[in-house]
Amino acid sequence: MRDSLAAECEQVLVVKDPESSAEAIVVVHSTKLGPAHGGIRRWAYASHEAAMADVVALARAMTHKCALCEVPAGGGKAVILDHPGLDRESAYRLVGRTVEQLGGAFYTGPDVNTTAADLRWVGEETRFVATDAADGPGDLAAATADGVLSAWLALAEELGAQPSDLHCVVQGLGAVGMRLCERLAALGTRLSVFDVVPSRLEHAVQNCGATAISSDQVTQTACDIFSPCALGGVLTEPVAASLPARGVCGAANNVFGNAAAADSMHRRSVPVVPDFIANAGALIQGAIWNLQRERITPERLHRIGVTTREILQRSRAVDRPPSQVALELARERLER
Ligand code: NAI
Ligand code: PHE
Repeated sequence: MRDSLAAECEQVLVVKDPESSAEAIVVVHSTKLGPAHGGIRRWAYASHEAAMADVVALARAMTHKCALCEVPAGGGKAVILDHPGLDRESAYRLVGRTVEQLGGAFYTGPDVNTTAADLRWVGEETRFVATDAADGPGDLAAATADGVLSAWLALAEELGAQPSDLHCVVQGLGAVGMRLCERLAALGTRLSVFDVVPSRLEHAVQNCGATAISSDQVTQTACDIFSPCALGGVLTEPVAASLPARGVCGAANNVFGNAAAADSMHRRSVPVVPDFIANAGALIQGAIWNLQRERITPERLHRIGVTTREILQRSRAVDRPPSQVALELARERLER
């Protein structure tokens, strides 16, 4: 299964910096619709195989994201294999050089644990990166949070409620999760939040009026909407069978542990907005800037809400999970 996924990719580059021993994997999944786009994730993987499995799955999700949000781009991803003592600058520069060698087949940007400062190193090695420079695409995490909010509001509508009447559990208070909390707090949504970094938890409590919950409570707290904004794989089969939420919508890529978990949520009539629709904001803003040198309007991100509504309605009509319906639509567009 994993091998067949890697075989789908146009290029899989495993690179190592001889001086620092920093290691990275850069994947171009598809350039069928345009140059591949994918952020850089820095993570301490349990093994090389685990890193490879993650990067190819994330790259494939980017291809689907591009097809669904109708940008002329394809899917890719880069991961840096983190470990204590990693020379962070060398690692990001290594990815930058690799991206430059690809000559425009792959554009990169932010993802988990990659900061604006990290991307400046990348930007010194390659032209094909979205940084926070004045002549860049702007705040991509903000675009992602705006897009997630648009999808979240479509889900709220589906649940027949106003944001101020809803309770949302947010997991992960990083670049996207914190911005989402700020936006939801402004709409009067009650928030319960968790992050493994205590200072981020404290910040959300102080600034968004959120209630701090523990790691165990994240998938056990009764709420209207669960919003995963940390890593993927949160909706495992046991979680999907018992999650006490009326709907799910967040930024985390590849949120399902497997397809059975998606079926389980659907059987329980809990709509899960496909992550590759909800979190497309950065891709839309980044790709339109990279490929057309244009700044998008807020309306462009609101279309994420329109797509969400269509997918949720179609899911109900055909009685299949929203993720399946969205995947079919993405594949149709790729084949066309
Ligand atoms: P980030 O690295 O800024 O934030 C991730 C946060 O999750 C951190 O605060 C971290 O401490 C926390 N975290 C990690 N493990 C956790 C756990 N078990 N429980 C609770 N919190 C945990 O990453 P970012 O950029 O906010 O991305 C979040 C998710 O959204 C990722 O899955 C990413 O792939 C996805 N995404 C991000 C985009 C962007 O524009 N940054 C675009 C599209 C998707
Ligand atoms: N990391 C972003 C995502 O997962 C996408 C991104 C890639 C944004 C490249 C800009 C440039 O969707």
